[in-house]
This record gives sequence, structure tokens and C-alpha cells, in this order.
Amino acid sequence: MGRTTMSPVLDLFLSYMDSNVSLRVSVILPGAVAETLDESLFTFSSLRSRVVAAPWLTIGFYMKRPERYHCHPISSDRIMTSPEPVPAPFLRLDMDLGDPGPLPEDAVAASAALMKTGRLHRYGEYAGTEPHVDLLEREYAGYMGSRYAVAVNSGGCALFLALKSVGVGPGDPVLVNAFNLAPVPGAIEHAGARAVLVEVNDDFLVDPDDLVHKARQSGAKVLLLTHMRGHIADMEALSGICAQLGLTMIEDCAHTMGARWNGRPTGRFGTIGCFSTQTFKHINSGEGGMLVTDDDDCAARAILYSGSYMLYGQHGSSPPEAVFDRWKMQTPNYSMRMSNLVACILRPQLREMPRRERLWNERYRWLEERLNRIDGIRVPARDRREQFVASSIQFHAEGMDAQRLQAFADNCTARGVAVKWFGRSTPMGYTSLHRHWGYLEPQSLPGTDQSLSDTCDMRIPLSLTEEHCNIIAAIIQDELSQPV
Ligand SMILES: Cc1ncc(COP(=O)(O)O)c(C=O)c1O
Repeated sequence: MGRTTMSPVLDLFLSYMDSNVSLRVSVILPGAVAETLDESLFTFSSLRSRVVAAPWLTIGFYMKRPERYHCHPISSDRIMTSPEPVPAPFLRLDMDLGDPGPLPEDAVAASAALMKTGRLHRYGEYAGTEPHVDLLEREYAGYMGSRYAVAVNSGGCALFLALKSVGVGPGDPVLVNAFNLAPVPGAIEHAGARAVLVEVNDDFLVDPDDLVHKARQSGAKVLLLTHMRGHIADMEALSGICAQLGLTMIEDCAHTMGARWNGRPTGRFGTIGCFSTQTFKHINSGEGGMLVTDDDDCAARAILYSGSYMLYGQHGSSPPEAVFDRWKMQTPNYSMRMSNLVACILRPQLREMPRRERLWNERYRWLEERLNRIDGIRVPARDRREQFVASSIQFHAEGMDAQRLQAFADNCTARGVAVKWFGRSTPMGYTSLHRHWGYLEPQSLPGTDQSLSDTCDMRIPLSLTEEHCNIIAAIIQDELSQPV
């Protein structure tokens, strides 16, 4: 076509254009959202001015082939070479969205020092030292503004112990939101109780009308409310419903450490708040959990159940002896204690939480803004009273059938953007649906099914940059526009 440009990269690109009829073009420029353009839509002059201004760039284009798009990468460091077609899309996210990142140096140093002493059990006769678990409990209670904190060996165990501590027994119905993860119905089953699933709406929040309906229908006395993926319902309204119906609320805050509703921390609305410190949560000890409460009896029971060997007097955060006297002879020891090593790596991370909260939410806003600009993607709006700490992002990928959604999630994942889709027929990784919990009585949840059928989910690592977000948005947009 004889076009010349100011950029050798663009010249090379245009020579490819001349030899192919059907093209799609992706341009990634620093500081801008990637654009995927149809040939008919972009103008060379606008493209050229942006290319010349860019300190680096990647231009790729896809030549339509019957079997799949092929792409040719052209980047500034490959100007002199003749790019060969590659069988996978050229644009990949070269970072691991599941990367938990290193532990702080002081956590590493503290754990090495502790290992040299061998004092790994939380109780014992360690003259002259305060066990890390006890210190963590006091620091966590301070962080949460609760009277008591009890450290245990996982978030699932915290939920189980919370259910036991409020008096849930075999066969009791327990209300729980249907958008949830397997450990939560698992904890209810573990306590011998029966999960009664409550609908969630399109914004992933528990449906108050269904809650009232199911509470009356089942006669349940306990609501186990999961702030699933960090989405927080109107907690004042829910607390009012619980008070009206005589429901004890336990909050599952596995995804909301540091988060607040209208200024009040999640975990402080219910009788007990439960937290997880599993690797993909806000602070990471591989495995671990915390529960917080202001209730004397719940605290004493949780401590005894967790396995205190009658050494509950070693807890700095614990109710008076008289309360233990009520429970100590009739409470089994389930041995779900936290180890000193776990507590010792959590304490420095807890001190980092205010910084982490800021970083996570900044990254969430970067992604939210870019994803919402893509046709067919909708990130639900969040209430201004919801002060979340977003270590992941959820969005609806609208207008696709199950087959296309599955392909979309798989193809994004193959390009480094690990998208999980909640509509899968079989559970995978950290997604699951009520239909996958075959040990429960089947329950009809059309609203939840509808909402989750196009729900996708991505982790937000703290190492994510704005450039990464540009690339993620470009890949998602590109995969959405692939032919069926
Ligand atoms: C919503 C929710 N609740 C509870 C848990 C249980 O936490 P853990 O893995 O520490 O047992 C998880 C874990 O992923 C979770 O996602």
C-alpha cells in the first residue's frame, strides 16, 4: 500500500497488514488501557502518534485462521527480526495472580529465632517468655476492638468452634448464605448441624427477604453469615432482622479482615467473628484462624474446645475463672490450637494491615475501572458504607452461554489471567456451588444460581501494577470477543 510512518515498528506492522485481509489488532501502551480494535475501526494516524510517543510498546495482530487466531508479536526489541506466527495469543500476563508474596523480614527473623528455642506449642512451662499465640490474641483483640480473641488452626475450625460455642447441636438448622465456599457448609456439617441455604442477590449479598422466610420456615436460631469474597451486606439491617427473629449471628470474615460496614469492623456485628489466615487471605500463615467475641461464655467455651488442657489460665485474653467453671467439666478438647510458629509469623503481618488495606483497594479500583469499560463485563457497584479490603475482584461476564463462559475462563487462564468461573458444573479450586455439596439436602436457589451463572473471580496480588491491570483488561476484552 506504500504507507510510510515515523516508526519502524509501525512500518513492519503495516507490511503485515498488507498481506492479510482479516485482522484484529491489539495495542498496549504504557499508562493506557489496551485496546483491541477491528481493522475498520482504527485510524493509522491516531495509532502512529501514540506509538511514536510511547517509550515501549507491543503491537500484535491476529490473522484469522479457520482453527484459531494466530498472532505475530511485534515489539520494539524485535524490529530487526521477522516475527514468526506463534500458536498462542501474543499477549500474556507475565505474573502469577496467585503469588502470595514474601513474608515480612521481621516475620522470617522471628520464626528463625523461635525455632532455635523449640518452643512451638502455645502452652507449657516456658519460664520467662510470653508465647506468641498469647501475644497475638491480645494484639488481635486490640485490632478488632473485642474483649477476647482465640487463635486456632484454621478458619474452618474457627467456624466450627463458633457454632459449638453458641450451642449449635446435632440436627440444628443453621442459616447460611448460598454463595459460599466449601469450608463453610463443611463447618456446619462438622458440628452435626443442617445448612439451610439463603439466596444471594446479583451483588453477591444475602437476600433479607429470603433470610426472613427461611428463618421462619426452618425455625433456625443461628445465622452463619459469610462476607463472601469481601462483599458486605447492610449490616445494620441484617442485625435488626436477627434481633427481631431471635437469631444469633456468627460472621465468617475469612475475606474481610480489616473491612468495615459504616465504620464498624466486620466480625463485630455478630456474637462471634471468625477469620482465616490461610495463605490466600489478608495475612498469611499457610493455615490458621482467629475468632473474636465479647461474650464470656462463648470465649471460655471456644478456648476449652480448642484444646487448652486446662491451661486456659495462660490466655491473656480470656474471661474470669468463674466462667470456665461453668464449662470446663463438660467441654471436649478438639485440639484445634494455633502453634507458636504460626502466631509468630502473623504478628508482624497484622502490624502491616493498614498498609495492605490501602494497597489492595488501590489495585481493586484500577481493575474495576478498566473492567467496567469492557462491553459485557460488569463489576457490581459497592455501597459507600462498605469499606472493603479487596484481595480479589468479582465480575459478571454477561450474555454468554455456559460453553462460552468456560472457554473464556480457560483461555484467559492460559494467557496468565487466572479467571475462575462460578458456574462450572464441577467444583474447581477455590470455587464451589451449593450443587457441589452433595451431602446437603438439595435446595432450590434460583436467584443465587442466576447470579453465579456468569460470575467470575480473580485474585489481586499486592505486587499488581497498573501496567498489569492494562494487560489483564486487554486479555479479558480480547477473549470476550473471540468467535464461538
Ligand atoms: C469464605 C470462607 N470461609 C471460611 C474459609 C475457611 O478458612 P480455612 O481455609 O482457613 O479453613 C475459607 C477458606 O478459604 C473461605 O473462603
